[in-house]
Amino acid sequence: MEKKVSVSFLSSKNEKKDLIKLNRTSADYIHVDVMDGHFVRKRNKPFKRLYKMSNVISKRLDVHLMEKKPYKNINNFALLNTEYITIHVEIDKVDEYLDQIKDYGIKCGLAINPDTDISMLDPYLEKIDLILIMSVKPGKGGQEFIEDTIKKILKIKKVIVSKKLKIKLSVDGGINDEIAKRLDFVDIIVSGSYIIGNDDFESAINAIRDNASKKKEKKKDKEANKKGE
Ligand code: DX5
Ligand code: ZN
Repeated sequence: MEKKVSVSFLSSKNEKKDLIKLNRTSADYIHVDVMDGHFVRKRNKPFKRLYKMSNVISKRLDVHLMEKKPYKNINNFALLNTEYITIHVEIDKVDEYLDQIKDYGIKCGLAINPDTDISMLDPYLEKIDLILIMSVKPGKGGQEFIEDTIKKILKIKKVIVSKKLKIKLSVDGGINDEIAKRLDFVDIIVSGSYIIGNDDFESAINAIRDNASKKKEKKKDKEANKKGE
């Protein structure tokens, strides 16, 4: 299946212009990073700006709440064209917030930090639609992809397959066209500065999508060759 690309505009220097530009690309989602100044050091409040632009942005939102208490922003983003709201597994009252998201009929996700053990996800596996694996420490764009993430993706994928769960896998942080080549088990790839820092958003998005889908195509080619097609 073709990979989805979710574009983070956290490192944008001209948000309005870049969001309008992004809306015209083939990006599958706009990834909205929200930071509270507690769970992560920085703080931003993108909701009001996105609310004002909701008549010009038609892309669905993939909202990533890096907040200790995401209650208010769950209510806020439920008002917009939101497909996923993801909270962090490291916070208190995870179950209650997941219920709050589900009560809106919105898909819910759990993000997991690089240093957090995947067993933390266990109690929620039957409940969630998405796991967002952080491949950088959350809190800012433009960081380097942490290598150990690949092992973590494989471990989580194994759990999903063995328990026959319908959870989508997403990875967030430090992803460029080269890293994308190694993300063939991932359903939704989040990328920020690589795309926003490129004048041609569309070709950067396509490079990520194509490179992440390549391995499977190669396998298909091999099979086709074997059959003499
Ligand atoms: C990190 C954010 C990411 C990040 C992605 O805290 O959650 O979404 O901004 O941007 P890049 O691709 O620049 O790491
Ligand atoms: Zn994010």
